[in-house]
Amino acid sequence: MKEYTIQSRVCVYGWDELSPEDRILVEAAKDATNGSYAPYSGFCVGAAARLKNGTVVIGSNQENVAYPSGLCAERTTLFAANAQNPDQPVVALAIAARNKDGFLSQPITPCGACRQVISGVEQRYNQPIRILLYGTDGTHVIESIDALLPLQFVDSYLDR
Ligand code: THU
Repeated sequence: MKEYTIQSRVCVYGWDELSPEDRILVEAAKDATNGSYAPYSGFCVGAAARLKNGTVVIGSNQENVAYPSGLCAERTTLFAANAQNPDQPVVALAIAARNKDGFLSQPITPCGACRQVISGVEQRYNQPIRILLYGTDGTHVIESIDALLPLQFVDSYLDR
């Protein structure tokens, strides 16, 4: 038997430790929670994607009475970014979530389906996406979806 270990690196930043560029993106994700439509869960998620040319695209979770028809903030954002700017790689994605008590102290992490979509966007542009997960106790920063989705299904598998 052979064995290998996969490690993930997460850096936790205090607000003052974030670069101005990262702070702006996190603020955009926080603002984006105002566009959330979450009457069923009461859980408002916002996301903001920075593109290579500096454009910031925001999105939020959009729920539906037929629950599975709704969509998470991350996918809403990435699909909008790619639909509107197909020639622009996504370089960073910030995510923020709040409930009735306000923004969460510990960040949420993207669901499995969103991780797969983030992976797809990285592959499409051959560009790692810096992921910023906001919590009031700190912002967790991950340099690529590799850390959140090890052993991901990639394009090249189709050629095997
Ligand atoms: N949600 C997101 O928008 N992003 C995540 O990463 C996890 C969950 C949404 C989906 C649903 O509208 C609500 O949060 C509760 O699951």
